[in-house]
Amino acid sequence: MSPSSVDAVARYFERRYPARASWLSGTIVRRGERELSGLLRSWLPSKDGFDLLDVGCGDGTLLSQILLARPRRLRLEDLIPANVSAATALLRGRAHEIEGVIGDAGTLVDPSTYDVVLATGVLDYYPRWQQLLRTLVARSRGTLIFDVPRGGCFHHQLRRIWLATQGISLQVPTGDELATVLHGLGSWRMAVTKFSVAIRLDINGAAG
Ligand SMILES: C[S@@+](CC[C@H](N)C(=O)[O-])C[C@H]1O[C@@H](n2cnc3c(N)ncnc32)[C@H](O)[C@@H]1O
Repeated sequence: MSPSSVDAVARYFERRYPARASWLSGTIVRRGERELSGLLRSWLPSKDGFDLLDVGCGDGTLLSQILLARPRRLRLEDLIPANVSAATALLRGRAHEIEGVIGDAGTLVDPSTYDVVLATGVLDYYPRWQQLLRTLVARSRGTLIFDVPRGGCFHHQLRRIWLATQGISLQVPTGDELATVLHGLGSWRMAVTKFSVAIRLDINGAAG
């Protein structure tokens, strides 16, 4: 992301993103989270001992709700320091080793790879989402799970307007665009929920 885009996204999540308890949270920004959570839970490993990277972890609430097994290593990344602290605190004890890292997922340097890379609610805000997706693929040695907004929803048209007022351009990839980026990377399945399209990519045929 360009520095100005990172700044706009960071400013938004730091100062404007509605609190979980607020009315706007359930009606606009976190709408459909429950439906998505059930799906994501079923896609995460059910056996302990895997390495998991959560990119754009937010306050950790979503991961805390969908994580059933105990990772060996859990890395939590986010642009916002307060989110990294909150997520690390919330997930303490849920993995053998936990690490919180502040930074832009598009440029963070990390030599490790992970059995599972999770990135929900992140590509929405990334103008060069294809590039970020390739970066996330390279960080996984097994599975990449991510979501994008579902095209054609009035809900996302409202979000697009709201985010534009914050200097952020909402990304809504088409199925064809996703297929082009994912082509040849492994086997993938797509689940369409009311508001999002969730994708699980098993890189080079990794089993899940
Ligand atoms: C909508 S929240 C999603 C949080 C959580 N993943 C979930 O699904 O509930 C998006 C989070 O991604 C973070 N984020 C957005 N762009 C990012 C980037 N380029 N690098 C790292 N974190 C990013 C934001 O700071 C925010 O905490």
